[in-house]
Order: sequence, then structure tokens, then C-alpha cells
Amino acid sequence: MKLLSRIRTLARVKALPEGNLPEVAQVVAIIMDGNGRWARRRGLPVAAGHRAGTKALRRTVEAAIDVGIQHIVVYAFSTENWSRPQDEVDALMDIFGETIERELPDLAEQGVRVRFIGRRDRAPESLRARMESMEDRTALNSRLGLWIAFDYGGRAELVEATRRIAESGLEPSEIDENVLAAHLYAPELPDPDLLIRTSGELRVSNFLLWQLAYAELVFVDTLWPDFGEEALKKALSEYATRRRRFGGR
Ligand code: IPE
Ligand code: IPE
Ligand code: MG
Repeated sequence: MKLLSRIRTLARVKALPEGNLPEVAQVVAIIMDGNGRWARRRGLPVAAGHRAGTKALRRTVEAAIDVGIQHIVVYAFSTENWSRPQDEVDALMDIFGETIERELPDLAEQGVRVRFIGRRDRAPESLRARMESMEDRTALNSRLGLWIAFDYGGRAELVEATRRIAESGLEPSEIDENVLAAHLYAPELPDPDLLIRTSGELRVSNFLLWQLAYAELVFVDTLWPDFGEEALKKALSEYATRRRRFGGR
């Protein structure tokens, strides 16, 4: 069965018209969803799902390096996730801090450059310090860009960008797409080629609203803690069958 579906995929790739055929996606965004359901199915506390999720991130980053992806952008905590029960939010803040501490040396060693996008002012002080040290200590790396969206919301990002443009004193006629893009959290983050969302949910949930304009969307049923090399490669081969048009012919 598996072989048959691979042959079908290959046949589909061959049958596609020339031109605009994507190779390996260079910039991959991931909505890492399903930690809660993963834990519930095992009768475990939700924090166990979030912990297992950090292992999946590690596996995915390593696989991304192997396949030659340039940047991955992962949704770790949304502006809306503060509305979760306080004990879950507290556990998540602890897990983020522990994960940075545990993974930092290895990621730095492997040439990963880590940057955070989102608000910084609401994170616990100790976590904020760890985020900054992770960014500083990996600043000269260039093998893979890992962008972690924390306290991130696409709408909040656009509101902040608009506010900064208003403060800059630019004339309305001077404001164009380049100006707006230059005022986002990380203007140097390239637009994603591919968005993967795990856990079977079919929505964007306020992630990268501006940057996803022409991303290819791949939704997979795998829960995030079960994600890894195989699931990433499957999503990439789905991407490879797509023909991107960007509104043209
Ligand atoms: C994603 O997993 C992680 C965060 C939002 C922080 P969830 O916790 O949303 O998992 P489900 O959707 O409840 O299964
Ligand atoms: C999106 O997942 C946020 C992250 C993965 C960090 P949610 O679980 O918060 O999204 P909804 O509530 O299902 O839309
Ligand atoms: Mg969820």
C-alpha cells in the first residue's frame, strides 16, 4: 500500500507542468498542535504532552537540517494561549525555560540560529533572559534559522507594525507593502513556502497572517508529540507536488 502511494506521488510529480515547480521548501512554518490530546489519550497531565512536544521539536529541527531547509518558524505560544488555565500556562513557561536550557548548547553546536518573534513584555523575567541568551549565543550561526513564535499573534504583530509606522511620521502615500513588512517583528524572516499544521485542525489560528499570503498549506492528522523526520518528509513531498502560481498563469 505504502509503495503504491509512493509510486502515485512520483507519477503526480512527473505529470506536473514545467516551471514554478517547488523543490525542497526553504522556509517551513509549523503550527505545533495536539499536545493536549496526546496527553489525554494516554491519561497523562497536559504538561506531559507539552514536554513530549519539545522532543518532537528537537527531532524536527534535526530532520530539517538533514533535508536542507533554511528556516523553520514554529508556533509555540499564541497571544490567546494566556487564556488557558493558570496551571497549564505556568507549566508551559517552566517547560519553555527548561527546554532552552537543555537544548541551547546542542543547537548552538549544530549551527542553528534561534530567534523569537512575538511580545517579550509578558514573559516571566527568567524566561525572557533565557530567550535573549539563546539569541545571543546562536547569533553567528547560519546552518538553519529556527524562529520561535512566543506570545505571538498575527493581528497583534500587524497592530504593532501599524503603530510604529504611525509614529515614524511617514506620509500615507509613502506607506506600501515594503514599509509594512519592514515594521513586522522580524523583517528578515522570509515568507514561508509551506505551512504545516498538525493534529487535524484546519485553521491558521492567528499565525503569520501577513507572511502566509502565498504559502502552501499542509494539514496532517499526526499529533505534534508524534511528529518527526518521517512526518516532515511526507509533508515536504506533498509540497513538492504543488504548483505555485502567485496569482499568475
Ligand atoms: C499545542 O497543543 C501547544 C500550545 C498551544 C501551547 P495544544 O495544547 O493546543 O493541544 P490540543 O489542541 O489541546 O490537543
Ligand atoms: C495554536 O494552537 C497555537 C499554538 C500551536 C501555539 P491552539 O490550540 O491554541 O489553536 P486553536 O485554539 O485550536 O485554534
Ligand atoms: Mg490546540
